Amino acid sequence: MIIVCPNCYTRYKLDRKSIPGPQFQARCGRCSHIFTAYKPVQVEQISFVDLELAKQKKADNTIIAISNQKGGVAKTTTCLNLGLSLSLHDKKVLLVDFDVQANLTISLGVTPNKSLFDLIAGKAGDLAQLIKPTRYEGLFLLPSSKSLVLLNKKFFGAANFEYILKDRLVAIRDQFDYILIDTPPSIELFTLNALTAAGLVVIPTQCDYLSTHGIDQILKLIELVRSKTNPVLQARVLITMFDSQSTASRLISKKIKRLYGEITFETLIEMDDRVREAQIMSMPVIHYNKQSTAGRQYLKLAKEIFA
Ligand SMILES: Nc1ncnc2c1ncn2[C@@H]1O[C@H](COP(=O)(O)OP(=O)(O)O)[C@@H](O)[C@H]1O
Ligand SMILES: [Mg+2]
Repeated sequence: MIIVCPNCYTRYKLDRKSIPGPQFQARCGRCSHIFTAYKPVQVEQISFVDLELAKQKKADNTIIAISNQKGGVAKTTTCLNLGLSLSLHDKKVLLVDFDVQANLTISLGVTPNKSLFDLIAGKAGDLAQLIKPTRYEGLFLLPSSKSLVLLNKKFFGAANFEYILKDRLVAIRDQFDYILIDTPPSIELFTLNALTAAGLVVIPTQCDYLSTHGIDQILKLIELVRSKTNPVLQARVLITMFDSQSTASRLISKKIKRLYGEITFETLIEMDDRVREAQIMSMPVIHYNKQSTAGRQYLKLAKEIFA
């Protein structure tokens, strides 16, 4: 099992058998931070863990993780607006807020209450009860709340911990045309679970100096996930917050297309102040202003996803 120091993020591999109780005090050898560590709960038996079998299956591109270990690149904005765009094309869409910051939940004006952790702890009935309808027809939300942090604390490092979300989604998979998963800007339980459950990962990328470095990093992580838990996972880069007036933005988007052209969406999302205004109103930008550039680009992106 693995424990992670919450102060400096150093990871320690421990023998599960040597830990007597469900939790214990640990002292980080690197930064001396003392913290409570949890012995991960054993995840129940999972039938689809067979990698050879998984390789023979086609990627389910209707389960989409939105991921990039960088923050502020429009992951949450993309999850919300792409999800809404898909629903406006008459698809039934579930958004999964898999970030403890609950930005997606708050953006939809939903008060964080219970999360997937409460479900697993037996405090939230079944998954269908946890899923909330939103103000928008065809758009549903599996919300995040503060308790979600315990999912990482208690399960990270347990056997098969990467499959927790996939395992739970099986029960409701048939009820939705698309499932979109918003992830945090870190590589812990949430991102690894999202990348294991998804058939496609969309990597939102801003046109800044280190963006290609960030893409390289996440592609390496995706390669690791392919070898460990999800051999058919596909990846696509989405350029976000593109500023056509900025030379730097134009140069970097060219570089991204040159290096990752084959996996980059043709549609790019432009910098648009209405996105921020819409956020203040707890609305997706398409509903806030039908003429917004970014809104129309997200609708176009939905068409590219269908194709
Ligand atoms: N196309 C856009 N134009 C202008 N601002 C945007 C755009 N997309 C996202 N933003 C803003 O950028 C900030 C970060 O976006 P967010 O989706 O929260 O990123 P992440 O989830 O990757 O941290 C937010 O304030 C959001 O309103
Ligand atoms: Mg976010």
